[in-house]
Amino acid sequence: MFITVCGQKGGVAKTCTSIHLASVWHSKGKKVCIVDADKNRSALAYGIRGNLPFPIFPVSAAAKASRSFEIVITDGQASSDEEELKHLAYGSDLVVIPTTPKARSVELTVELASLFNAQKVNHAVLIVKVDSRKQKAAQQAEMALKKFGLHVFNEYIPLLSAFDKAEASGNAVFEAVDDLGRADPRRMTGWSSYCSIASQIPCLISKHSLNNNNSSNQSLKSA
Ligand SMILES: Nc1ncnc2c1ncn2[C@@H]1O[C@H](COP(=O)(O)OP(=O)(O)O)[C@@H](O)[C@H]1O
Ligand SMILES: [Mg+2]
Repeated sequence: MFITVCGQKGGVAKTCTSIHLASVWHSKGKKVCIVDADKNRSALAYGIRGNLPFPIFPVSAAAKASRSFEIVITDGQASSDEEELKHLAYGSDLVVIPTTPKARSVELTVELASLFNAQKVNHAVLIVKVDSRKQKAAQQAEMALKKFGLHVFNEYIPLLSAFDKAEASGNAVFEAVDDLGRADPRRMTGWSSYCSIASQIPCLISKHSLNNNNSSNQSLKSA
């Protein structure tokens, strides 16, 4: 299974999403790795800081990763270059596009999704960094995205300082601790939100390939 996490904006949790999807699948016994396709090498830097139980490869080792792993997650860099984005998404079973509920992030996501639609690339939007006091803004963003026909994951990723703490120590969020080594009280809320996202992905992939098969059967019949 090939998953690409990408978007036009920086700071929308692409790397965080890649790390956590990989962590969830690893915890379920899957052979998973990350390919860091960002020139800033943020996923590699995240991994070096701590002790993640799965490998993170530079993009130069992507071929090796594709042969040896059951799930390969590509962490993309923020880009507005259409060719670069198409190249990044090409061959993916699913492209995950994280977006915050902010208007500009939503607009860029709609733009990006139309590019993937034209390429018939399977994609879904993940609403991230949702402030628990501003659920309404997230619901409005979801409605706007759905109006444009986008698939939106059935769970938001909450805005939690536990994610920052996890990043600082190079761990998954369920291991987040504060400076005094005390477990973050909301770490499991963050973890379970990514568990829910990971569980929705296989269904999204099989639905897409079923639709593709049906449409190619239709065109065979009408030929
Ligand atoms: N759900 C979240 N809540 C709070 N902070 C988050 C969340 N997701 C990511 N972050 C933080 O936001 C910053 C940017 O995230 P990152 O994954 O590096 O974004 P990108 O890869 O899109 O540039 C990081 O410091 C990360 O720890
Ligand atoms: Mg990144």
